[in-house]
Amino acid sequence: MIRTIKELRCWSRRQHNAQKRIGLVPTMGALHEGHLSLVQAANQCCEATLVSIFVNPAQFGVHEDFHQYPRPLENDLRLLQTAGSPEVFVPEITEMYPAGFDASVHIGGVTQPFEGVFRPTHFDGVTTVVLKLFLASEADLAFFGQKDFQQVCVIRKMVMDLNIPVEIVVCPTVREPDGLAMSSRNRYLTETQRSQTVVLSQSLTLAEKMIIDEKIRDVETIRQKIRSKIETAPDIKIDYIAIAHPKTLYELTTIDSEVVILIAAKIGTTRLIDNILISVVDN
Ligand code: PAJ
Repeated sequence: MIRTIKELRCWSRRQHNAQKRIGLVPTMGALHEGHLSLVQAANQCCEATLVSIFVNPAQFGVHEDFHQYPRPLENDLRLLQTAGSPEVFVPEITEMYPAGFDASVHIGGVTQPFEGVFRPTHFDGVTTVVLKLFLASEADLAFFGQKDFQQVCVIRKMVMDLNIPVEIVVCPTVREPDGLAMSSRNRYLTETQRSQTVVLSQSLTLAEKMIIDEKIRDVETIRQKIRSKIETAPDIKIDYIAIAHPKTLYELTTIDSEVVILIAAKIGTTRLIDNILISVVDN
């Protein structure tokens, strides 16, 4: 396990000297099958896999769950042993943000809608830490989950705008058997809450059916259907239902070619997000 940026740089240099490509999987720990799918993908594409585990304070809002966020490090390390024993980078907060730290990476445009409205400082925290991880690890490839669709758009934009020499690989969302997208935050859910969350993924597959099978193209009709489905769960409060272009994240009024539907909702104090990417072939 690597604890410092200095050690990480030595490790990365050794991998590159041995002609190994480095695949980075950034995480905040509390690992589940979703994270492990990224590790498997990295193992397949790269000769050296690095998983970072760091609960990044900069991406949590003041009233969010930073202190409560699960940190089961021992169990995470055990899980990683079942996923090919990658190298693991677990820095202390002061290693990433030493006293006097005063930098922030801000990406415009795609950070502004949806999550940007509800978590205004979130993406600056994400891009700041991810850029630090890219620089310290000298990753050749970096693996992210589609589960956090907007995060992927933001990271891609950062990589493009700042000419960062890393290839971004996006892996599909891993789900529980009933469809709920796996998330470290799912462990906050009570049994009653957990049983209600199934409507989130169900509302997205319902929307997919409307678009693909029924050929409905009007965004408001689809949004209404998603809303009604989610509202069958008494304790879920919707933050947003966005129907947008997958690259620009501009909201659409009618659907053509490609569309992403993003939803965010709260159940009790737990906030959950999900999305579906749909390709429309009209003829
Ligand atoms: P975290 O929520 O731990 O997620 C780490 C990575 O796992 C992200 O790329 C996320 O999209 C992916 N992931 C989470 N749940 C998934 C699922 N069900 N299926 C597939 N992939 C999934 O996202 C973060 O941490 C942080 O913002 C981070 C990028 C590490 C920066 O701090």
